[in-house]
Amino acid sequence: MKVAIYSFHQFEKPFLEKANAGKHELHFFDVRLSVQTIVLCVGFDAVSLFVNDDASAPVLKSLHQQGIRFITLRSTGFNNVDVKEANQLGFRVTRVPAYSPYAVAEHAVALMLALNRRLIRAHGRIMDLNFSLNGLTGFDMNGKTVGIIGTGKIGSVLVRILHGFGCRLLAYDKNENEELKQKFKVEYTDFFSLCSRSEIISLHIPLMDETKYIINKSCIDVMKKGVMLINTGRGALVHTHDVITALKKGQIGYFGMDVYEEEEGLFFEDHSEDILLDDTIARLMTFQNVLITSHQAFLTETALNNIMTTTIQNLDCFENMTACENEISEK
Ligand code: NAI
Repeated sequence: MKVAIYSFHQFEKPFLEKANAGKHELHFFDVRLSVQTIVLCVGFDAVSLFVNDDASAPVLKSLHQQGIRFITLRSTGFNNVDVKEANQLGFRVTRVPAYSPYAVAEHAVALMLALNRRLIRAHGRIMDLNFSLNGLTGFDMNGKTVGIIGTGKIGSVLVRILHGFGCRLLAYDKNENEELKQKFKVEYTDFFSLCSRSEIISLHIPLMDETKYIINKSCIDVMKKGVMLINTGRGALVHTHDVITALKKGQIGYFGMDVYEEEEGLFFEDHSEDILLDDTIARLMTFQNVLITSHQAFLTETALNNIMTTTIQNLDCFENMTACENEISEK
């Protein structure tokens, strides 16, 4: 099968080539799929996409006209694909439903600890031969109340880690997990109650119409002053401007973000020679208590091995015309 790998990053290559073992004809393109870049995959059988590729209705229609019928995502989230349109056009769409919930949960904890213990600031000071501790006071995680929004695969791992820290755990999810309640004393609660009672809030639900901007002024206003907010889910789960307003007032005391609403065209890329035109992220970068990573929560060797192995298996299913457990559809 001839496959166009869009949004290709060098760090993926060894894992992808090892998983493929020469089976499929892979062509690597470091650009994102969009109306402008569709031309690259003329004559291909399938496209492989990442989180910021555009698989909206117009793009899908053009892909279809080109004879492409298979889309395989190298990600878990698929909010960038118009699945309804894809189904109507007859595409088979697959994803990687789970590759390492540990990678993302552990990164969420890394953000929490780095913000709490001001590690980035401390390191910067040391590099400047400033060994003062003023302004670096953190808090014990032990005994703190953490609200976990979404207790699926990633949220469940986070529960286990934070239980080990001795945190009190609140959760909000439309499906309650009995095991988490019994083993880790997780208390499920309604969304606003979680917001008002937590000292740390971490987001692990998918981005959908109903979850877009779930974190906005109305719930930020009920949060404890100085709350820590961690977003490794998707950028648009939070209303970024409301978060900035709350950071300015001290209502949000710490913000760890691995994802950003406007990350497309910014994250994953080297813009060190460019002028930064995005005033929102520029403002976020001015806060000492905001820690930004460039959608790297998934980036571990284990995760990359699993992502590429599953991607090749998904392509095998397409080629052999067999059912695929990783297929996504609206039905
Ligand atoms: P999952 O599907 O296992 O868990 C999602 C949970 O959210 C489920 O328990 C579900 O019941 C709950 N949920 C869904 N809609 C809800 C709603 N409207 N209200 C309340 N609860 C709701 O997903 P998983 O694997 O834990 O991933 C979560 C998200 O993390 C993904 O959708 C993705 O956007 C993001 N992610 C981010 C990565 C990164 O590198 N930053 C990497 C992988 C995933």
